[in-house]
Amino acid sequence: MASEELSQLITETKKQLEHLRALGVEGIQIATATAPAVVVQPPRVEPPKAPVASEPTTSLFGDIAPAPAKLTKSTETFEQIHTEIGDCTRCPLHLERTHVVHTEGNRKARLMFVGEAPGADEDVQARPFVGRAGQLLTKIIEAIGLKREEVLIGNVNRCRPPGNRAPTTEEATTCKPYLLREIAVVQPEVIVVLGNTAMKNLLDTREGITRLRGNFQDYKGIKVMPTFHPAYLLRDPSKKRETWEDLKKVRDYLDSHRSDPC
Ligand code: URA
Repeated sequence: MASEELSQLITETKKQLEHLRALGVEGIQIATATAPAVVVQPPRVEPPKAPVASEPTTSLFGDIAPAPAKLTKSTETFEQIHTEIGDCTRCPLHLERTHVVHTEGNRKARLMFVGEAPGADEDVQARPFVGRAGQLLTKIIEAIGLKREEVLIGNVNRCRPPGNRAPTTEEATTCKPYLLREIAVVQPEVIVVLGNTAMKNLLDTREGITRLRGNFQDYKGIKVMPTFHPAYLLRDPSKKRETWEDLKKVRDYLDSHRSDPC
């Protein structure tokens, strides 16, 4: 081979190798004389690059949640709300109810109790918490030094679910806005939510009562204390001790935030 030809071949080979390297080929095997072939390694696939440590991975200066929405005081009256509810047929619970059971009690209350839905006694008497669970609730209220008439008592749903089942999400979603409007009228300082259904509906949480009970939560600037439902306490009286601890926290909060200096 002439030297000119050889130098051209070397130049071409170099170019070819540069090209292969640019494609990611890291080496070639020289085949034996019997099988003269160049085996090309497949280009290495690079894993996706992890973000460089100095690159910001979250928002600048960290994530500071916006201030929670505060409840705006409403100038409606309970009478207006109850008139609007009327002989309600907005959800299937109306089919088997006797009465719509409205929130009752002191409309200037500092403390409110919210339950799930009326039971058989409440359905007949058109008043919340008047059955056995209600009698226990009255004792709980008195145990923290208040009278039943001094507090406000309501439910997420105003019609009795058949067989005292828990209201469905749709039923609760239909009725809850009226309770929230009453809360906006009264603006109690503390709301005690009784049991899972009331707690989940007021706080929009997936947590269970056992996990959240005894710790103040927030509903638009109002302190919310989740605790066990009195009907549950009737079934398992051993839970009364924890309920008492929760209610003492409510009493202490109200005592230490009394605006009246007398
Ligand atoms: N259980 C409730 O949740 N509410 C009532 O009014 C009565 C029993």
